[in-house]
Amino acid sequence: MDPLKQQFYEKSQALAKEVKGLLKAHGDKKVDDVALDQLYGGMRDITSMIWEPSLLDAEEGIRFRGYSIPELREKLPRAPNGQEPLPEGLFWLMLVGDIPTQEQVKWLTEDWVRRANVPEHVFRAIDALPVETHPMTKFSVGIMAMQNTSVFAQHYTMGMKKSEYWDATYEDTMNLIARLPRLAAYIFRRLYHQGEQVLPDISLDWGGNFAHMLGFEDEGFREYMRLFLTIHADHEGGNGSAHTTHLVGSMLSDPYLSLSAGMNALSGPLHGLANQEVLRWILKMVDTLGTSKPSREQIADYVKSTLASGQVIPGYGHAVLRKPDPRFIAQRQFAEANTPDSDLVQIVWKIFDVVPPILSSLGKVKNPWPNVDAHSGSILLHYGLKEYNYYTVIFGVSRALGVLAAQCWSRALGMPLERPKSVTTAWVKEHLVKEYGVVAAH
Ligand SMILES: CC(C)(COP(=O)(O)OP(=O)(O)OC[C@H]1O[C@@H](n2cnc3c(N)ncnc32)[C@H](O)[C@@H]1OP(=O)(O)O)[C@@H](O)C(=O)NCCC(=O)NCCS
Repeated sequence: MDPLKQQFYEKSQALAKEVKGLLKAHGDKKVDDVALDQLYGGMRDITSMIWEPSLLDAEEGIRFRGYSIPELREKLPRAPNGQEPLPEGLFWLMLVGDIPTQEQVKWLTEDWVRRANVPEHVFRAIDALPVETHPMTKFSVGIMAMQNTSVFAQHYTMGMKKSEYWDATYEDTMNLIARLPRLAAYIFRRLYHQGEQVLPDISLDWGGNFAHMLGFEDEGFREYMRLFLTIHADHEGGNGSAHTTHLVGSMLSDPYLSLSAGMNALSGPLHGLANQEVLRWILKMVDTLGTSKPSREQIADYVKSTLASGQVIPGYGHAVLRKPDPRFIAQRQFAEANTPDSDLVQIVWKIFDVVPPILSSLGKVKNPWPNVDAHSGSILLHYGLKEYNYYTVIFGVSRALGVLAAQCWSRALGMPLERPKSVTTAWVKEHLVKEYGVVAAH
């Protein structure tokens, strides 16, 4: 057994035993109450699932196995001469709960290199799609096209025991993550570089090699890629991509089927597509105002006109967070150190000054602060990655780390299929009368 798998096996067996005990002693204890608002309100805040890799606090932001983003930037292993964390280290942490050593991360990088071969038919499946098909659709199709190589699906057909599910899931997870940068880079180069592919450089780390295959040799871009791929990896279990991957996986659909579904959720403009929308919105503002150095007043007027036309301000607001997203702050710090003179970065900072008071003044927005998507586009563009339709694919490559680590945990803990209860409005009215004597409003 490989060293990461061995550690995961030991830790997950121990936790599975502990959970059994917890359920035996406290299985009937209440952890939440649910109000009618929450049924009609997108199930917001209902504590209803277990997700081991990370936990989100509305005020403080995300913690991965107890570590905040500033702590990860300080403690996770880095590339030689690098300043930013290696995403390999975060994956290790999410899977076993410990910050890995430099040697452990080196092993993981090399293991993913060994697993990185993408079958030829996957590229042909992408080639069969019209070239203008959205990159996220191609990414999802590419993941689906690899499904025929799923260890989980093959072993399941051969009669795999439930106690072995975690092992096959781990193998699929490692193979999939290893292959995703190659798949994603293929999509990019086919769409924007007439299909001229850049072959992998196996001396590089996972994120560095992804940047290289996209066609970027700038060390600053590689560093940003490592940071980007680390901070976008997970945001507890209830968000669209995580929850979708979890739900589909709970039917024992293998990691390829589950991840592809999760990527379709990420493709929504209220979720991962927001990073492309942010840049599109800013570029349109620059175009409309006729300047790449707009004043705060000009930006404020533009924000108000966007709102007046019934659209949301992309990159602002969050379903859970109630403070500026630490993932935004981390990117801002990166930009302060590496790209402070970029006009677009300057605009992002001015938007940060201008938008929160305007959104707050509407009186309905629960969180007026920037989220993760508010900053990424400006930095990617600074390094020359201007094709913003592609940005969500990079988010997807990162998000695979968290949702697949979580699927390993779900299999190891023997999680059952997810099947919440739904009701009709007629049921709601009857319930209100029966429980509270309330006559439903007309
Ligand atoms: C992220 C988001 C979907 C969260 O939705 P939510 O949990 O329903 O947010 P709220 O409870 O604060 O929404 C209450 C109201 O404020 C509005 N609102 C929230 N964020 C807004 C924004 N950035 N711009 C304008 N209006 C916003 C909502 O549309 C809603 O209006 P409605 O009652 O007229 O439908 C939402 O903030 C949004 O659409 N943001 C822009 C897209 C984005 O950046 N997505 C990436 C998320 S990581």
